[in-house]
Amino acid sequence: MYTTAFLDLPPLLEAGGAVRLPGSKSISNRVLLLAGLSEGTTVVHDLLASDDTRVMLESLRLLGCDIQQSGDTVHITGLGGKLAVFKAELFLGNAGTAMRPLTAALAVLSATQGGMFELSGIPRMHERPIGDLVDALRPLGCDIECLGKEGYPPLRLRGGKLNLTAPIRVRGDVSSQFLTALLLALPLVTQDRALTIEVEGELISKPYIEITLNLLARFGIQVQREGWARFIIPQGCRYQSPGEIHVEADASSASYFIAAGAIAGIKEAVRVEGVGAASIQGDIRFVDAAQAMGAQVTSGPNWLEIRRGTWPLKAVDMDCNHIPDAAMTLAVMAMYAEGTTRLRNIASWRVKETDRIAAMACELRKLGATVVEGQDFIEVTPPAGAWQHATIHTYDDHRMAMCFSLAAFSPLAPKAPGQNISVRIDDPRCVGKTFPDYFETLFQVAQTNLDLIPVITIDGPTASGKGTLASALATRLGYKFLDSGSLYRVTALAAVSRSVSTDDEAGLEQLARKIGRELTLRFEAHHVWLDGCDVSDELRREVIGQTASKISAYPGVRQALVELQLSFRGMPGLVADGRDMGTVIFPDAGLKVFLTATVKERAERRYNQLISKGISANLEKICADLEARDLRDRTRAISPLVPATDARLLDNSALTIDQSVDTVLGWWVDGWPHVLVKS
Ligand code: DC
Repeated sequence: MYTTAFLDLPPLLEAGGAVRLPGSKSISNRVLLLAGLSEGTTVVHDLLASDDTRVMLESLRLLGCDIQQSGDTVHITGLGGKLAVFKAELFLGNAGTAMRPLTAALAVLSATQGGMFELSGIPRMHERPIGDLVDALRPLGCDIECLGKEGYPPLRLRGGKLNLTAPIRVRGDVSSQFLTALLLALPLVTQDRALTIEVEGELISKPYIEITLNLLARFGIQVQREGWARFIIPQGCRYQSPGEIHVEADASSASYFIAAGAIAGIKEAVRVEGVGAASIQGDIRFVDAAQAMGAQVTSGPNWLEIRRGTWPLKAVDMDCNHIPDAAMTLAVMAMYAEGTTRLRNIASWRVKETDRIAAMACELRKLGATVVEGQDFIEVTPPAGAWQHATIHTYDDHRMAMCFSLAAFSPLAPKAPGQNISVRIDDPRCVGKTFPDYFETLFQVAQTNLDLIPVITIDGPTASGKGTLASALATRLGYKFLDSGSLYRVTALAAVSRSVSTDDEAGLEQLARKIGRELTLRFEAHHVWLDGCDVSDELRREVIGQTASKISAYPGVRQALVELQLSFRGMPGLVADGRDMGTVIFPDAGLKVFLTATVKERAERRYNQLISKGISANLEKICADLEARDLRDRTRAISPLVPATDARLLDNSALTIDQSVDTVLGWWVDGWPHVLVKS
């Protein structure tokens, strides 16, 4: 998961290949609650690991369920309809799929068995209405107090006395989650009678109710449905664990890859595994919508393959009530369509993680679209020509971040082909709500030209702090990291251990060519593995550094390592440190930094480093050694250590690491978007 402040997406040119998507959020949280209410143990496979499922699992644990988790399989031993804990404070983040059903379940459980429960979330959760559910539960005798604003969480459930003789009524036109909450919870109190729920107003998002009914049936509860207005829960229901249950991949998450296929599946199809034509999720109907816009889709029971069909995409005028979440993806697909796309009947967008109609309109306009928004619709007309570079604000809304990643296919925009727009996604970690590895998965199927992938180079002499600076920058930007010195050190280590003489240029060149090929090389979490062995400590040895310094002067060795260094350039970007990153290896880097700390300062740093590791050291000797190395690096015939003509010099002698990182990050941010892409 990218946890950076922002993520710059390189312009993307094509999409293709297979992805397996994480489990459905709607199915995961319903299954967890049902398993938590059942008797016995349920083994849930392929559970979504995300913020919303984490808060549900944590709540069930606090309520006394036994939960054992290994990978994406969870064993849950449920309560069997009986409270095990009578007082609990549950924090539910921004998870509507946890807040609503837990409210209903705990309200009826505490009204029959006693107890007091508080349910709260993040500030946005406290702005998301729950009044219709509270209004449905209070007439049944549930004692529910809204602790902040009436009709909104946080809530306190204080028991009450259940009276089920009155009809149970719930509004269905704001969120279908209120009805889902009642359907999931009311089987708990059917000992004496069947219960009928009557829906007031036109029920929205019906497919989500189908998921609820489908999963209730898997747990032994057959609800009868009369149209979409009356739901009858039979007398004497008991939640029966199905033993094992598999969670389908999330159909809403699939929408981004379906869209990627429709926009950029030019030579190859995008294949989505884990969800397909047999899905019980309403958002699978997004496939029809994408087809209406031009996507070419083939499917099996649990897979989909999507290619570009009609191009440019066709603008549509569509009622999206049945696919509210996935419909957001259509709004961004509209940027690649001819004409104006109108998405109707989407009032529920306004009460989701953020006001999605307003958010979508604001961010699409940044790219240059013309957008008309209404209370329950949005109209998107793509820019008549070039798009604009945009920093996309994501409103702590996972779907905003995922949808707008599709704007990175801007070079394919029908009206401005070949444009390279920079799309900066703010707060990319918000995808953690449902799809923590979303961007990694996108980069698996998205393709671009290497020269469109941004590079920052950090060059400078020995012990100037390049490595520390470059690696911290890479972390802050979510970029890949190349410590090119380590490749020379690896070559030196391989030479020493194979007794290849430092005078044998041809032998060293041959050896260098094997690095990353016959001799496998892996970088992971500040460790380096060569041929399966962790050589991180060995590489830092003084003798290896000296050998590396010598052998790096041989043109053959340098040439042998070029391809390996270039191969580190990957999405979403690269920070590379060394001596010739900006001059020779990545001359097209968007930002080149050259460190110029004094020999004295560098020697002191090296000295302190060695002393802190308990290694004895002599400052004067270190100074002399650095000077000798500087001289060798500066005066060698090939790739001498010099700043690139367009490098920015940074004397970090008097700067802390954080100050250096902030300085370079500042240069990067100030130079945006021009430092990212050349054209
Ligand atoms: O940065 P370092 O000390 O780990 O690098 C080890 C040696 O490799 C160094 O003495 C110079 C050489 N080197 C080089 O010539 N070109 C690079 N791009 C990186 C390192």
